[in-house]
Amino acid sequence: MDTHLHAHHDEVIGIKADAAARTHVSVERRQAMVREAAVDPNGFWGKEANRISWMVKPSKIKNTSFHDDVQIKWFEDGILNASVSCLDRHLEEGRGDRVAILWEGDDPSMDERVTYRELYNRVCRLGSAMRRLGIGKGDVVTIYMPMIVDAAVAMLACARIGAIHSVVFGGFSPDSLASRIQDGNSVALITADEGRRGGRSVPLKANADQALLECPTVKHVIVARNTDAPVNMHPGRDHWWATLARHADPVCQPEPMNAEDPMFILYTSGSTGKPKGVLHTTGGYMVWASFTHEVVFDYRPGEIYWCTADVGWVTGHTYIVYGPLANGATTLMFEGVPSYPDNSRFWQVVDKHQVNIFYTAPTAIRALMREGEKPVKRWRRDSLRLLGSVGEPINPEAWLWYYRVVGEERCPVVDTWWQTETGGILISPLPGSVAQKPGSATLPLPGVKPALVDNDGKLLEGATEGNLVITDSWPGQMRTVFGDHERFIQTYFSTFKGMYFTGDGARRDEDGYYWITGRVDDVINVAGHRMGTAEVESALVAHPKVAEAAVVGMPHEIKGQGIYCYVTLNAGEEPSDALLAELRNWVRREIGPIATPDAIQWAPGLPKTRSGKIMRRILRKIAANELDGLGDTSTLADPAVVDDLVANRVM
Ligand code: WTA
Repeated sequence: MDTHLHAHHDEVIGIKADAAARTHVSVERRQAMVREAAVDPNGFWGKEANRISWMVKPSKIKNTSFHDDVQIKWFEDGILNASVSCLDRHLEEGRGDRVAILWEGDDPSMDERVTYRELYNRVCRLGSAMRRLGIGKGDVVTIYMPMIVDAAVAMLACARIGAIHSVVFGGFSPDSLASRIQDGNSVALITADEGRRGGRSVPLKANADQALLECPTVKHVIVARNTDAPVNMHPGRDHWWATLARHADPVCQPEPMNAEDPMFILYTSGSTGKPKGVLHTTGGYMVWASFTHEVVFDYRPGEIYWCTADVGWVTGHTYIVYGPLANGATTLMFEGVPSYPDNSRFWQVVDKHQVNIFYTAPTAIRALMREGEKPVKRWRRDSLRLLGSVGEPINPEAWLWYYRVVGEERCPVVDTWWQTETGGILISPLPGSVAQKPGSATLPLPGVKPALVDNDGKLLEGATEGNLVITDSWPGQMRTVFGDHERFIQTYFSTFKGMYFTGDGARRDEDGYYWITGRVDDVINVAGHRMGTAEVESALVAHPKVAEAAVVGMPHEIKGQGIYCYVTLNAGEEPSDALLAELRNWVRREIGPIATPDAIQWAPGLPKTRSGKIMRRILRKIAANELDGLGDTSTLADPAVVDDLVANRVM
């Protein structure tokens, strides 16, 4: 990644006095937690397990191995249902009238408040209706929804009946949806007529219909009314949500789940091949979601908490739905985008709903920073108490702008590093107990053991830079790749034996602080969206005129990374602007708008070794316009192709 984004910054923003005074994790408390979790993980996590509801409390806590066939079990004799911690418990404990989900529409005049009691009722009705359709424990249900309350209801209803949900981001194409449905053997799909974003509509049901042409396992489609747009309904297969719910039993007994029973699958991109179905199980995930949401965001009862992610990504799972709801929080769910109707929308919503805790992505911060301070200053923002960042490295400039302009130096900033695979945050300051450094995710949470290794897997000590690994398990860790445990071992535990490899590189400074430098594999991070370069390549070569393609990330001022494609056309095909536009659209259609190439360069040839391996290192340098450091090209089959690529680089 661009080095200027990661300029070393030695400024230390101390522990803000007022934050420290108000936080419930003091410096001493944090140190005690870190010590206890390290010395006695069974005791520590056994106690933390009590933060969620159990039908049978676990007596066995940690049973994990990163060696051989990799086995990860937490709370393995515990029985629970995730929805009970998020719903029933709050009703029993007198929180039924508290707002669970505060929904803010894309259209600023639309909002909705759903109390814990209402949410419970909606979840139970959908759960009962799904059971009536024959859906039950262990069945995979795909959810392809816009950012409306029903998306969370659908997830919780699956959890209630023990079905494994697989949420697919509403911005994905019919093809991407189909391949995820097929991989999971889903028996049902929950979707809506349309979604809305930035004043435009997204044809979810029409996309789903197209995807389902290739998905014979799906027997039922449940359709929520959202925009009231006309849609096709297949008799026998498609059901209106509202009709099902009206006739459904309002009582829906929670399915007893073993702590290690699968809770959900979420597809994410890797270096090679198709996206992997990351599998999370019930007990450990819920404990991790609740624990991290409380300690990292310093959540206190009654506060309004807003995470701007989409439920289609893991951040939405853990920090819009499960973490906040397990903690009885009021979680704000936003259907729109930061720039609609104008680029002060975030701050307008903060004032409108008196948001206390705000969690967003660096790409949004950078985009808003470019618009200057005025749109921010138009709103008071005096309800804000804490700011968070997630999804990609945050450059110190953006961090400081967030801290000074948005938070007026009053709100601690938590830069939270984690992954779909980790279930929740692993490295982050605990506000009020860890001094902040702009651009650093700072220190591991209690019970998390990061380390840096060189390319041979040798552990590196002290202030250094290397590959980021985690040397021991934590409760929220993914358990396997759905249907492919061998791939799980291969991807995460074979590069460095006995350690979980994150795919990220990091620097560690004299104070032991971690500075994530970005992916060291062929995954790129475009505006906080994780993408495999191999996926974009395979979309490109699926075009009839394309012979070969290589895709790399390039530095991008707003998005962090952009998508740079080298394309070799079939013999006889001529490059043209029309073909360029066609390929851009092709990739959008194949994967989704988030995969739209930022640059396409026509490449008569690609730099390959004599054994035919593409030298991506060189392609990355050319895309980044770092032409001095191309390194040794003498091992290439045809070194002249590099000169051509350099001479014709675009942008
Ligand atoms: C990157 C998103 C630096 C990282 C929760 C990781 C970050 C990938 C940060 C996971 C951060 C996430 N600082 N980099 N605070 N948070 N990343 O699976 O490269 O969509 O491996 O999970 O995002 O992306 P994913």
